[in-house]
Amino acid sequence: MDYIGIIGAMPEEVAQLIEQMEKAKKTTIAGMDFYDGKLWNKRTVVVKSGIGKVNMAACTQILASIYKVTALINTGVAGGLYAPINIGDIVLSDDTLQHDMDATGFGYAPGVIPQMEQSIFHGDKDLIAKAKEACEEVNPDISVYVGRVVSGDQFISSDEKKAFLVEQFDGYCAEMEGAAMAQIAYLNDIPFVIIRAISDKADHSASMNYNDFEEQAITHTIRLLKAMFSKI
Ligand code: ADE
Repeated sequence: MDYIGIIGAMPEEVAQLIEQMEKAKKTTIAGMDFYDGKLWNKRTVVVKSGIGKVNMAACTQILASIYKVTALINTGVAGGLYAPINIGDIVLSDDTLQHDMDATGFGYAPGVIPQMEQSIFHGDKDLIAKAKEACEEVNPDISVYVGRVVSGDQFISSDEKKAFLVEQFDGYCAEMEGAAMAQIAYLNDIPFVIIRAISDKADHSASMNYNDFEEQAITHTIRLLKAMFSKI
């Protein structure tokens, strides 16, 4: 864990991290700004990938091939799926998959990537344990869950789609990038964790709640990351 890549999809998810970096060198590759320097005393590169799985996959491969990071963290917000999870809570990726990968017409189960050995990617146990411990220390007012993160190129904002993601995949939260980072991490043999704060409930109320709660959700993830960094 001596060189950490942190990826957020949106500017507000990484802005506070970049502000807190020391001696960060900015390099633009594929239209993405990579900030390489020290964050809370650890060698780190922070980048905004842009939204969706394609942006995330390209970004992660650059971190693997050019920066040769030794751990990957995706931080950001997500829609809650698992009923007990509240807005503001945190989900850490026990594992993750692409909920919109659909080759069912070709005889595969939903979410299965044809001709790949694996379609479900597991978060690194040590990173998960440290993130959980850190979260419990610095965010005692919220709950932290370790569960499945389901990713797709869709903002989930209907009760029907939410029910499908819960029934089909047992998802804890839905977002639009994590599984893409995880797949590239797996292909390059890099340990990873996805850290997502819940900004909405991925149902008919999602777009309204998202705007109201995004900032609070990001505050929780930044606090968590800082405490986690003192442990890794
Ligand atoms: N990110 C935050 N909320 C989300 C949702 N409801 N669906 C997909 N991505 C999200």
